[in-house]
Amino acid sequence: MIGIGSDHGGFELKEKVKKHLEERGLEYKDFGTYSADSCDYPVYGRAVAKAVASGECDRGILICGTGIGISITANKVKGIRAALCSDCYSAQATREHNDANILAMGARVLGDGLALKIVDTFLDTPFSGDERHIRRISMIEE
Ligand code: RB5
Repeated sequence: MIGIGSDHGGFELKEKVKKHLEERGLEYKDFGTYSADSCDYPVYGRAVAKAVASGECDRGILICGTGIGISITANKVKGIRAALCSDCYSAQATREHNDANILAMGARVLGDGLALKIVDTFLDTPFSGDERHIRRISMIEE
């Protein structure tokens, strides 16, 4: 189960990502926002982060205008490793090296085509499991 959320700045892209997930046959839970009306990104960033941290969702996708505010919020929740990605290389590397459990994107930064490729890369790339990466990830939580 993928948890997805956005503020108004990411609302349109969130709807496109949801359609893309449906086309791929992937299940998601939409934590809002549910319209393009102005709202506060921490509400949605925290909701998705808590759902991932609790195990209700396996991964999360968060979108705001830049991806910055919503990723900062998510990373305040214990156990969350939210990665703000604007390219596929970073999306792949953050899965392999950081075992990132939330992808954050900026809707005002990315074109839709690139955003969907980043989503696919993030969802389809496994954690490497390398000892050095496990060690470094455990150091984040200390
Ligand atoms: C909203 O205008 C904008 O500030 C928000 O979407 C995001 O970019 C914050 O980091």
